Amino acid sequence: MRFEHDFLFGAASAAYQIEGAYNEDGKGVSNWDVFSKIEGKTLNHTNGDTAIDHYHRYKEDVRLMAEMGLESYRFSIAWTRIIPGPDGQINEKGIEFYENLIDECLKYGIVPFVTLYHWDLPQYLEEKGGWSNKETIDAFVRYAGICFERFGKKVKHWITFNETVYFLRFGYITGAHPPGRKNDQKGFFQALHNVMTAHAKTVLLYKSLKQYGEIGFSHGFAPNYPASSDPADADAARHADCFENYLHLDPVFRGEYPAYCLDSMRARGVMFDYTDDEMAALKEASSLTDFLGLNYYHPNAVKKTSDTEDISIDYSREANTGQKRQYYYDGYYEIVKPADKTYTKWGWEISPESLIEGIEKINARYNANMKIYITENGLGDYDLVIDGEIVDVPRIKYIEKHLAAVKKGNEAGLNIKGYFAWSVIDLLSWLNGFEKQYGFIYVDHKNHLERKKKLSFYWYKEVIRTRGELIGGETNVI
Ligand code: BG6
Repeated sequence: MRFEHDFLFGAASAAYQIEGAYNEDGKGVSNWDVFSKIEGKTLNHTNGDTAIDHYHRYKEDVRLMAEMGLESYRFSIAWTRIIPGPDGQINEKGIEFYENLIDECLKYGIVPFVTLYHWDLPQYLEEKGGWSNKETIDAFVRYAGICFERFGKKVKHWITFNETVYFLRFGYITGAHPPGRKNDQKGFFQALHNVMTAHAKTVLLYKSLKQYGEIGFSHGFAPNYPASSDPADADAARHADCFENYLHLDPVFRGEYPAYCLDSMRARGVMFDYTDDEMAALKEASSLTDFLGLNYYHPNAVKKTSDTEDISIDYSREANTGQKRQYYYDGYYEIVKPADKTYTKWGWEISPESLIEGIEKINARYNANMKIYITENGLGDYDLVIDGEIVDVPRIKYIEKHLAAVKKGNEAGLNIKGYFAWSVIDLLSWLNGFEKQYGFIYVDHKNHLERKKKLSFYWYKEVIRTRGELIGGETNVI
């Protein structure tokens, strides 16, 4: 069986991780431009100043995507290229770059799938409190409106935010992302509500413009399951799903927050401030958000902590990348790594089944057969190079298994409309530098960032050409 004709085979990236040219053509300074230069924050002092120089090489990169047969390319816009500074002036050079990129995609029939916010906030806003300051809501909606106005004729698929769950927890709780605050729970929940309000107001704005495209939200989706049959672990999994999944999805699809989380925030004195107008916007937008994007890499096995346990939260970079076992920041549970599971080299459990089970749980919670795009999924690895060829068989196997699960899920009635592999090309990992590779295209950092096709490039090309006919079957595509 083939995937349905309207299923999009895609791949993804994000501006800070690929563009480089961090101070060219009028671009403003982002929080990541500043944060990545703080000693100890990134692996081997890596940063996005040059990244993989996509800003200058986008034509070559899009040509390679076209050669692979890619149907859709998910990329993000750097807010700081569009509105560089606090005076709010629009930077025409920044607009021009994205116009060119969009045109280059369309030239080959590649559908642009655009993320408005993939974590690079203008530094001037960060300095005024970033997402914990309500002024950032209006600033974002204005920026989004400019993008709709300038690119909306050609871009018909929009994502407001990428993974609130990670950039906010890392930003306000573990300190691994900007603004680098540790255990600022009040700031965290306030920032979360402000981001959700910005999402809602952006959806309302988009719908009012009648551009006849779709707009959704990408969630960093790690379904939680109990590490044992102990009911305490089942309780831990429920708690984890509430704070890590439903706290981020309920406001988007129900226009409210889970009562369980609100009660807990109030009990801890970390409840956020909100207005009736904000809550009304959330409600109104909840029925207008067109799709759910899921970025799925792994599930989490969780174990309830006992009262006698000494819970010290690990703020190291490794704990934030999932390499180590870790306690949740409120001390309620620990993420463990059962010995009978398989893991990536970064300790992420490989489980395509959990994606489908997770979607079924989401559908049950929202009482809908949600329109879903897998907006990220892929394998971070140290790729094997033999005689100059990048033989990334583990990536092929990983993606093949996840595509097979998606296919099976759709055959059983799910409404998954596309799959975006992370990532289209090797890029900068926020906390893992250039060592953790995800791409179909290799970038040679020792040789002027030269691009080279990996084995997975040819494999994905064949998958797309045959619309996944062999996926999930007995015969391998390679
Ligand atoms: C997602 C992000 O969380 O995971 C991407 O949206 C990121 O930007 C990807 O690169 C993989 O994470 P990592 O830490 O393995 O690079």
